[in-house]
Amino acid sequence: MLSESQKDLVKATVPVLRENGVALTGYFYNRMLTNNPNLKETFNLGHQRSGAQAQALAGAVLAYAENIDDPSVLMPVIELVSHKHVSLNIQAPDYDIVGENLLHSISEVLKIPMEDDLIKAWAAAYGQLANIFIETEKRIYDEHQKTKGSWLGWRKFKVAKKVAESAEITSFYLQPSDGGPIAPHHAGQYVSVRVVVPELGIKQPRQYSISDCPREDHLRISVKREEAKEDKVGGWVSNTLHQNVQEGDEIEVSAPTGNFFLFDSNKKNVLISGGVGLTPMVAMLNHLVSLNMPQPVQFIHACRDGKVHAMKQHLKDLKAQHTQLNTLVAYEFPQDSEVQGEDYDVAGRLDLATLSDEQLPKDADYYLCGPAPFMQAQHKTLVARGIKPEQIHSEAFGTGGVNFS
Ligand SMILES: Cc1cc2nc3c(=O)[nH]c(=O)nc-3n(C[C@H](O)[C@H](O)[C@H](O)COP(=O)(O)OP(=O)(O)OC[C@H]3O[C@@H](n4cnc5c(N)ncnc54)[C@H](O)[C@@H]3O)c2cc1C
Ligand code: HEM
Repeated sequence: MLSESQKDLVKATVPVLRENGVALTGYFYNRMLTNNPNLKETFNLGHQRSGAQAQALAGAVLAYAENIDDPSVLMPVIELVSHKHVSLNIQAPDYDIVGENLLHSISEVLKIPMEDDLIKAWAAAYGQLANIFIETEKRIYDEHQKTKGSWLGWRKFKVAKKVAESAEITSFYLQPSDGGPIAPHHAGQYVSVRVVVPELGIKQPRQYSISDCPREDHLRISVKREEAKEDKVGGWVSNTLHQNVQEGDEIEVSAPTGNFFLFDSNKKNVLISGGVGLTPMVAMLNHLVSLNMPQPVQFIHACRDGKVHAMKQHLKDLKAQHTQLNTLVAYEFPQDSEVQGEDYDVAGRLDLATLSDEQLPKDADYYLCGPAPFMQAQHKTLVARGIKPEQIHSEAFGTGGVNFS
């Protein structure tokens, strides 16, 4: 238990951490990965390259210090991060490694001896936070353990089929190599996938939303290739999957997890996506189709143009079969050959303010997924139209989407 004076010491560290937070966590990651090189196959080294992970952890540590009197206010975020930790098979002993490296980093960066009361206070505070995570994660692991067809850690899956869905998105149909069953997931959940990245010579994990409703013998993920461009290096795992992983190859897959999924199929649902953010939405839509779509569904999708418009025909086919399904597709930069009303509905950026109340019903649940600025813009417009924030659910595809503060 943290004493009152320890709480005061931790709270007093907030301004120092604000100033040194990112430098501190950068130092911490280097220290931890140098001392525990096996953890390089757990952490997203892409986020280390871009600094995103250091900022996410710094934000988490700060928010925790600020809420030390009542850490329960952080529970929704802890739940979200715990799902990600579980998908990466993070276990209780890993918290000791992180804790030890974090405390030594605070000591080394702030030049405070390890025996100082401040470090002892942080040790107690970290222990308290780690216990909350460990408990939350144990609950999720236990659920997987008792569910038939679910699994703990990494399970080998064979790539049964690769299907190009657009110029940059390819679907991977994954079958368990052990031939066993797959527990049904909640439509919208994701898996972690782990492959050897040739450039690094080690495995790297990434999360991918399952892009279909539960199927007995396979899972499907749909991956956008993060191509190298003038101002951007190529993405490690997406390029490995597109270029190096062939049909018949095996990859490692975690059990489906995540708390972004279709909550109520008996309500009106509005599914709004930008770019590759359509993957969890197609899973939700296919799930609703499997239930014969009890309520009206709006499927709203924005992308650059027809070349990158994934699963276009699938959506058209569903629309032709289900009168309850309404679709709206916005192309930001339609090609001259693309016809409004046929290939797409709206030219330019998606602007929800222009849609009707029938398209955006007040009594619907809303699901959002896409690039961060896209989601922020849609969220703002929905709230301005009188949709309550608790009706809007969203998924961020990168680290740092979690707002701890
Ligand atoms: C819950 C969840 C679900 C997801 N679902 C999907 C999905 O369905 N489909 C999908 O395609 N993706 C999905 N993602 C994203 C996916 O996990 C990966 O982040 C994505 O595939 C990129 O991984 P990568 O290894 O190819 O790129 P990385 O190597 O991780 O690089 C990521 C990006 O950072 C850039 N970058 C790298 N280094 C730097 C640097 N030094 N400075 C600046 N930028 C840099 C790269 O150019 C690249 O664009 C999801 C993510 C989450 C968290
Ligand atoms: C109390 C301790 C911890 C805190 C506060 C914490 C916090 C976080 C946060 C905020 C994220 C980002 C989530 C997101 O943006 O989606 C994250 C992701 C992650 N965490 Fe933790 N974490 C802790 C412990 C651990 C431990 C013990 C490990 C394993 C050794 C670990 C490994 C990871 C990995 C691999 C990711 C995903 C990395 C990425 O995608 O960049 N974490 N954690």
